[in-house]
Amino acid sequence: MTQEIEITVDNGVQIIRLVRAEKKNALTGPMYDAMSAALDGAERSDAIAAHVFLGSGGVFTAGNDITDFARRAQDGSQHAAPSQLFIARLPKVTRPMIAAVDGLAVGIGVTLLLHCDLVYATPTASFRAPFVDLGLIQEAGSSLLGPARLGYARAFELLALGEVWTADRAAQAGLINAVVTEGELEAKALAAARRLAAKPRAALLAARRMLKGDPALASKAIADELAVYKDLIRSPEAREAFTAFLEKRAPDFAKARGSAA
Ligand code: COA
Repeated sequence: MTQEIEITVDNGVQIIRLVRAEKKNALTGPMYDAMSAALDGAERSDAIAAHVFLGSGGVFTAGNDITDFARRAQDGSQHAAPSQLFIARLPKVTRPMIAAVDGLAVGIGVTLLLHCDLVYATPTASFRAPFVDLGLIQEAGSSLLGPARLGYARAFELLALGEVWTADRAAQAGLINAVVTEGELEAKALAAARRLAAKPRAALLAARRMLKGDPALASKAIADELAVYKDLIRSPEAREAFTAFLEKRAPDFAKARGSAA
């Protein structure tokens, strides 16, 4: 089990903390597996009524580990990646999920928030979904959940243009509930989770289920996105984007397209 995800349970609240600050909490397969196991275990436990996602080191997460993307672009594996298994689980989670975002939230660090019921962020938090810049498309059902939560225009700006949103912009757009100081952030998220955990459980879960709507729709969006992603991840442009990141240089998409011809 990885040390880079720390799981604790406190007063009916499961706290899932990302602790890979030296890599900006970029998510690896073992980290996704640990989060999946935590979410799964909670579904079988009456002791857990809510989940809280936290970052560390002044970062929420820089998203999927790009080394992992690069490996998948090469190996052509047909097996579901741990990231895909984690994402597939999100619409099936029945307990409320709360996120506390300090610093960077990139990629899955943004699309995860669309599954969360409450999101708090610090004034210096920033939100970026650079899927298209990486030669990929948005994931985690954000094709459906993004427009539903933010409206089409804002969802396109965030998920396709890849605009970096400040905390204020994210609050104004409805991605997050409130901006709170760094000192208050985790306490605010945990207090909300504890309030939820103290409520009548059946009523809480029913209220959430009705507010969320049919989880099969998000699951279908996830499957549809994955079908497109599987082709795109092997494209010359995606490979160029991953290589450029790992070589710390700007990508040359025109050259990548030309070399593919
Ligand atoms: N995957 C793998 N490694 C990552 C990473 C990621 N998604 N994000 C950051 N890292 C690593 C960097 O390679 C660097 O490693 P090194 O110290 O061994 O060189 C370390 O984390 C620190 O990152 P660095 O880029 O030096 O920090 P920064 O503050 O200048 O920039 C980011 C932070 C997040 C803006 C930048 O790292 C970035 O753009 N990361 C990629 C984000 C991304 O596209 N994620 C995928 C979304 S789908």
